[in-house]
Amino acid sequence: MGEGILSRSDVAVRESAAGFTRRGGWLHADSVALADIARLAGTPTYVYSASAVRAQYARLDAALAGVPHRIHYSVKANGNLALLSLLRQLGAGVDIVSGGELYRARAAGFRGSDVVFSGVGKTVAELDDAVQAEVKLVNVESEAELRLLDDIARLHRRVAPVALRVNPEVEVETAHHYTRTGARGDKFGIPYDEARGVARLAGSLPNVALAGLDMHIGSQLTRIEPYADGLARLLELRDAIVADGGGARLRYLDIGGGLGVTYDAESEADLDAFARIVVPAAKKSGLELVMEPGRFLVGNAGVLLTRVLYRKRSGGKDYVITDAGMTELLRPSHYNAFHRIEPVGPSGVAGVVDVVGPVCESGDFFARDRSLGDVVPGELLAIGSAGAYGSVMSSQYNARPRVPEIIVDGERVAVARERETVEDLVRHEKASPQWRTL
Ligand code: LLP
Repeated sequence: MGEGILSRSDVAVRESAAGFTRRGGWLHADSVALADIARLAGTPTYVYSASAVRAQYARLDAALAGVPHRIHYSVKANGNLALLSLLRQLGAGVDIVSGGELYRARAAGFRGSDVVFSGVGKTVAELDDAVQAEVKLVNVESEAELRLLDDIARLHRRVAPVALRVNPEVEVETAHHYTRTGARGDKFGIPYDEARGVARLAGSLPNVALAGLDMHIGSQLTRIEPYADGLARLLELRDAIVADGGGARLRYLDIGGGLGVTYDAESEADLDAFARIVVPAAKKSGLELVMEPGRFLVGNAGVLLTRVLYRKRSGGKDYVITDAGMTELLRPSHYNAFHRIEPVGPSGVAGVVDVVGPVCESGDFFARDRSLGDVVPGELLAIGSAGAYGSVMSSQYNARPRVPEIIVDGERVAVARERETVEDLVRHEKASPQWRTL
């Protein structure tokens, strides 16, 4: 802390003046003072650094350079159209999980061939959209989904390229068990011992083509060994499929997302070690590597900017009450997740406080028993690592309009999403509903 909201491992980013750094005591996004952004947009507001996104994309792309690959950004991490457009310009494709995300992706200029479609419960309408959009891959998660997709593709006289999302059943450590997805018995993917049979079925269905194998083992992974274990299982499955005569159209090896970032003092996933595992394996397989990173690309490229409303003491505790709450950033409340919090301006001696929001829930907190610079009401705080799973998980609970998203690039600033209004809150509601009988 003190140096800026980026952590030690982001030194390279800091040196290129990307991301969040302290200048003259004041936190900046790239070259723009967060205090100026608060004046422009009000608080709370999200602030993203385009150059931080670029830097992360370049790092990952370089790490995978030894093998044909495409980075399909996972839209669920942050679906803001300005960020999607930025990533598209960098060369990314997208990984989506709903018809809504398909709509977003296309609104940001992606074509069907840029899209891989993941998700455990795709509806008929969503599969229909995906077939019509001619997505690059539908990552199917069950035999029933495969059959349904074949039916839908037949109606459109198309052959839909599919990847089997396999549950590789590997041991994964993540900060919270909600973000583990690749263990035996999880709801995600085709159970490993059934995958060969589902591949045979795919071979027999005329309107799907088995084009890939896919896994996603969890999120915020800081150890990379599970990727090696998962990859080994995918490649073992591939050999079995080839032995069954079903490998002719196999082209993609999709290893999902999950690369962790630094929220606190934990180390970031070791990219070099990751590349040493993934690149040779992908190369040997002869398949094109697909990755679906979300958090890695945008997590540390965003902060939530909030203003201190009040301070109070209760039961021997010091509370700092902010104008942002769990409605804007749910992660602390939902996963007990750690997010760094720093005063935006210079601040005095630290005290130990709870930083809490204004929402009427005891679970509405950002930090408990946290050492924080001595801030007074009216001062600004920046909540770090909020670029991924921040705005997208926000809600209007307590009739709180969703907050803006501001994007900074060097010295320039743009509104990437306007603040919602109270009219937006009731737009689809009826004070006098039209009653009828069905
Ligand atoms: N691909 C699939 C199939 C996924 O399910 C996910 C994330 C990703 C890619 C991207 O994972 P990432 O690279 O961002 O780790 N809301 C939670 C995270 C949920 C992740 C769900 N799946 C959080 O705030 O930590």
